[in-house]
Amino acid sequence: MELEQSDGDPAATRRGHLPGGTASQRTGDSVVLEAVRRFWDDDATTYDRAPGHAPRNAAVLGAWRAVLARNLPPAPARVLDVGAGTGFLSLLAASLGHRVTALDLSPGMLGKLAEHAESARVQIDTVVAPADDPPGGFDAVMERHVLWTLPDPGRALGAWRAAAPYGTLLAVESVWGRADPLEALRSRARRFQHRLRRLPPDHHGEYDPALRRSLPFGAGTPPAAVLAQVEAAGWPAPRMERLRDVEWAESLELGLMERVFGVTPRFCVAAGAAVSVHGDVPGAATGV
Ligand SMILES: C[S@@+](CC[C@H](N)C(=O)[O-])C[C@H]1O[C@@H](n2cnc3c(N)ncnc32)[C@H](O)[C@@H]1O
Repeated sequence: MELEQSDGDPAATRRGHLPGGTASQRTGDSVVLEAVRRFWDDDATTYDRAPGHAPRNAAVLGAWRAVLARNLPPAPARVLDVGAGTGFLSLLAASLGHRVTALDLSPGMLGKLAEHAESARVQIDTVVAPADDPPGGFDAVMERHVLWTLPDPGRALGAWRAAAPYGTLLAVESVWGRADPLEALRSRARRFQHRLRRLPPDHHGEYDPALRRSLPFGAGTPPAAVLAQVEAAGWPAPRMERLRDVEWAESLELGLMERVFGVTPRFCVAAGAAVSVHGDVPGAATGV
């Protein structure tokens, strides 16, 4: 199937438009968004070389697919992937039979997603837009590693609820930065090992420290704070799960010395309509 690049979509031309807030907040946000967009456009050519970003190992991919299968509504559902990047979640969801729309601020990242979708022969619609201004009409909204880089994660989570008022949220995050002091030490050790093995860095550069400080989750995504934001944004029944199967599959790829410090702990927060073990969606009609 052909990939549909929907840059002609009106939503695609809304980049920079931010609903709500005062005029100075909007100006501040658009400065932040422009810096963020530039970073990810520049990162598009390097992002996929990190195994944590774009895993190729069959066991790791299988574990991720299981996370989506148990947290998204039954396929085919209309799924919005916010901050889709090069398309890791989008491609997995499409492989499960979902109708996926990938939204991102960065045309460079979405260009890579388009290449991957074409190779995988799946159709994924793309929209260039800020996270808090998505199109509507979805059964589920998902994201991975996007909350930390949003100027107003609460506003974005609220907009995603409006985009899927009777649907499901799947937010995939990791414990990093100040979220846990012990994990911060492990992460330093992992970075040291990374340098010792002379592996290329995961990104082309770093966010400017002032930009990072301006982001509410710029120093880490503590699970309790993510859960609280999801609930405050109006998503009912938020539930959290540590993604141990993904971590286990990832750790099997490591060398013996690397296993001492393990892999970054991963978790997801799901909310909204729950998918039952029978595959139906209790409460979908009422939105509870
Ligand atoms: C860490 S990458 C994650 C990409 C992808 N979700 C994944 O799991 O590999 C963050 C992505 O979010 C996008 N992004 C950052 N801020 C955004 C915003 N305010 N609105 C939309 N996309 C944004 C970036 O362009 C980038 O593609």
